[in-house]
Amino acid sequence: MASKRKYERRFTSRDPKINHGMDPAGTKPSGLMMRMTNTFDLSGKVALVTGGSRGIGKAIALGLAEAGADVAVVSRTLADLEKTASEISRIGRRSLPIAADVGKKDNIDNLVAKTLAEFGQINILVNNAAMFMPRAMLDADEKYWDQYMSVDLKSYFFMCQAVGRSMIKLGAGNIINIASVNGIRPNVNSGVYAICKAGVILMTKALAKEWGPYNIKVNAIAPGVVETDMSKPLRENPERLKQHLQKTALGRIIQPQELVGTAILLASDAASSITGQIIAVDSGESI
Ligand SMILES: NC(=O)c1ccc[n+]([C@@H]2O[C@H](COP(=O)([O-])OP(=O)(O)OC[C@H]3O[C@@H](n4cnc5c(N)ncnc54)[C@H](OP(=O)(O)O)[C@@H]3O)[C@@H](O)[C@H]2O)c1
Repeated sequence: MASKRKYERRFTSRDPKINHGMDPAGTKPSGLMMRMTNTFDLSGKVALVTGGSRGIGKAIALGLAEAGADVAVVSRTLADLEKTASEISRIGRRSLPIAADVGKKDNIDNLVAKTLAEFGQINILVNNAAMFMPRAMLDADEKYWDQYMSVDLKSYFFMCQAVGRSMIKLGAGNIINIASVNGIRPNVNSGVYAICKAGVILMTKALAKEWGPYNIKVNAIAPGVVETDMSKPLRENPERLKQHLQKTALGRIIQPQELVGTAILLASDAASSITGQIIAVDSGESI
């Protein structure tokens, strides 16, 4: 409760930056807020992106850096992360590559502590690292179930909890969970993955409610099929690809860069009143 009271004091501050673009009374957008070109600017912000070594996570990490943020990136493979980190440095932002397995809670605690030690704060969390191993639910044994739950669901929760604690102290934060259209409309042979992603979607809404009073916004992006390593088996199977494309309104798969704009929106002041939302970036698959 002490932290909540601290946040309430900050929210009524006369400093427009602390007041999140609202007028001092907090009733209407101030001039600062109305300068729309600035509302997407992430200068001075620190982002932590899991799965930032390739695919969607890498595209989002570079996009947040382009928008002005310093970015810590996490995955299990340091060599891949170092490539992302040097691209972030070339953009002119600070970066921190951290090798960790997000399926393990002690790794999560360490990586969040390392990021805070390096940058002093975390303003944006992108929970993105996940695995996808299609299997019929009748063939899902306990090991398969436990591995999925650790990496695709438990990691999202404990990343939110560890980073959320530091955001509560800051009095603000933006969390973006990368879910999937599978968590809304499950596909055959992706049942356990879909259960995890549905859990991520409900976690997003539950955290948004619980942490709204601390000015922490929690939203999710639900991608359709994106051209990354994860979707290779589907994309390289002409019959499955054809069936998939028929389900989409746009009739095409998605490029990782097409998720960047939504991520910048949800990370920025432009989304200052958006929380608990699930935004499908899916070529119209979920319609
Ligand atoms: N691609 C799609 O079609 C699609 C569709 C819907 C949703 N999504 C979601 O989008 C997100 C990103 O997917 P993607 O397609 O970019 O996947 P990807 O290309 O396979 O990349 C996954 C990233 O997560 C990291 N990672 C995996 N397991 C990890 C672990 N235990 N600890 C730490 N890092 C780990 C990987 O690095 P290491 O292997 O080196 O650890 C890599 O950086 C996922 O949440 C996925 O479910 C993807």
